[in-house]
Amino acid sequence: MYNVAIVGATGAVGEELFRVLEEYNFPVKKLVPLASARSVGKEVEFKGETLKVKELTCDVFEKEEIDIAFFSAGGSVSAKFAPCAVKAGAVVIDNTSYFRMDKDVPLVVPEVNPEDIALWRKKGIIANPNCSTIQMVISLAPLHKEFNIKRVEVATYQAVSGAGKKGMEELFEQMRAIFNFKLDKVVDEREVFQYQIALNVIPHIDKFMDNGFTREEMKMVNETNKIMHSNIEVAPTCVRVPVLRSHSEAITIHCEKEVDVKRAREVLESFEDIKVIDNPEKNEYPMPIIATDTDYVYVGRIRKDLFDNKTLHFFNVADQLRVGAATNAVRIALKWIEMEGEKFLKEKDK
Ligand code: A2P
Repeated sequence: MYNVAIVGATGAVGEELFRVLEEYNFPVKKLVPLASARSVGKEVEFKGETLKVKELTCDVFEKEEIDIAFFSAGGSVSAKFAPCAVKAGAVVIDNTSYFRMDKDVPLVVPEVNPEDIALWRKKGIIANPNCSTIQMVISLAPLHKEFNIKRVEVATYQAVSGAGKKGMEELFEQMRAIFNFKLDKVVDEREVFQYQIALNVIPHIDKFMDNGFTREEMKMVNETNKIMHSNIEVAPTCVRVPVLRSHSEAITIHCEKEVDVKRAREVLESFEDIKVIDNPEKNEYPMPIIATDTDYVYVGRIRKDLFDNKTLHFFNVADQLRVGAATNAVRIALKWIEMEGEKFLKEKDK
């Protein structure tokens, strides 16, 4: 059993982590919710118990004898406090982008590259990839094995909860204002998105880079290849849409081998944590309302290109707070326990 800390316990991903840890019956000895000083004393529920949020400080990990620390409070918080947790003897599972491309930090999607967890000792940290990347690589992995992917083109449709609770609140406020005919004022007061998000789409997530892509898009380029140990060309366009939860992706893969829709469906269906919903004759395909609150990547609209027999198109949807964040983090931790847990606890006992 393990002492577990959740850093960012009051945030969108933090709240989901409590639910996922409970659902997966995670071997928790003690759970310590941590957030900023603003949230001290706030209450969270875990397995029918009420826990009080404590302040995140550098000392808290040692004081609480933490073994596993989940971080979901932004990159600067991870940069400052993850080393404190490691120093106190914990393994850190970090949801932010801060350590992802560090060569001494494994970047893991357990369905795709569980073996990379073994590298955790280099820094004591395992990074959880970007949400759009996680759901994409889960569907790419079986197709790559079958058809050898050379290039991926992807357009995302990303929910507002990807920008945290404030993102959801901003969409709610704007929707309410629309029904009250007071949108102008509310849009002037927006904080999170660059433009009005209600009844709009914004082809801009995170900062623009010199190459014309955004940082969110570059995460998909770089993280995909680190996870898959590949050299695939990735061409993403990341778009924010007024959906509360679950990201969608329209994906095109260009392969070395000729693609086959029936075979693609078979390999996707037999891959861990994928559900294929693909019945055009019954109007059945994946959508955010199907994926929300579940732990699967849903794939559908699978079709061969009309002009190139080595090109396949499909649509994929997953709950990015779960598959793209909390569930992936918990799956990493469970795999880590399976691979390293016994040794870790023995060393701690010495
Ligand atoms: P708090 O609620 O105390 O600000 P979201 O991604 O939904 O916006 O949530 C961000 C999470 O990260 C919240 O739990 C938030 O806590 C936490 N957080 C943000 N900044 C800090 C900080 N400087 N120290 C500790 N926790 C922080």
